Amino acid sequence: MSSYLDAIAAMDGGSLHPGGFHHTLKILRDFSILREDIVIDVGCGTGRTACHLAKTYGAHVFALDNAEKMLSKARSRAEREKADVHFVLGDVLDMPFRDQAADLIMIESVLVFLPLFKGVKECFRVLKRKGILVDVELVAKDSLPLAAREQVKAICGLPQIPSFKEWQQSFEEAGFSQIAANLKNFPGPLENLKEILYGGVNSLFSSELMSDANLSRPLQEYRCFMQRYRSHFGFGTFIYRKN
Ligand SMILES: C[S@@+](CC[C@H](N)C(=O)[O-])C[C@H]1O[C@@H](n2cnc3c(N)ncnc32)[C@H](O)[C@@H]1O
Repeated sequence: MSSYLDAIAAMDGGSLHPGGFHHTLKILRDFSILREDIVIDVGCGTGRTACHLAKTYGAHVFALDNAEKMLSKARSRAEREKADVHFVLGDVLDMPFRDQAADLIMIESVLVFLPLFKGVKECFRVLKRKGILVDVELVAKDSLPLAAREQVKAICGLPQIPSFKEWQQSFEEAGFSQIAANLKNFPGPLENLKEILYGGVNSLFSSELMSDANLSRPLQEYRCFMQRYRSHFGFGTFIYRKN
């Protein structure tokens, strides 16, 4: 795991993806999810989306993450919120689900950290025919200078930082058909949260983060980087169907 992901795992935050939970709710407004549907939140983090899906739709919700720390926060959330979610410790690149298991896969800021095509192919395998993939991910605009591109990859441990078109191509090459895709300007999760938290973004920094410079360094570097370069980023919402 990258040190950026280690730092994120130590945060006290909820939704850790561009657009935040507001954006998740906006996407879900257009979906009809049935009680009998099998939904997998891939790279669930602290489980906010998974718990919402379980409580709102009563569907069979599985939440997978490879970080035990994240899963334990997600389990506590589910207990607190009385949400019926099945938590799974596992790797997105080799999910412990049979072929064609899921009606809906939700991914929020996960594939950007992984070998992209491998992750997309694995989601394709696990989805049923006619199943839907929803993915919200960081996008680099063409204007992003090369040196800055390398810098953000190093800070966040990203193997790539795809353009909007490259994201679309990887879904299409895996065999998905596009239902909708859009690109929005970047306020990252930290910027979103800053607007709604009394204590500002620092209130997300747990005592563990504050007391360990090695842990908090990647987040500070990321914030400095984004203050300078955020206009060169966006976030994409990719909604695809497996035919
Ligand atoms: C930026 S966080 C997003 C978390 C959550 N989706 C959200 O929006 O709040 C990325 C998440 O992906 C998880 N992750 C990264 N690589 C993974 C892998 N190979 N398998 C499973 N989970 C992974 C991390 O542990 C982390 O919880």
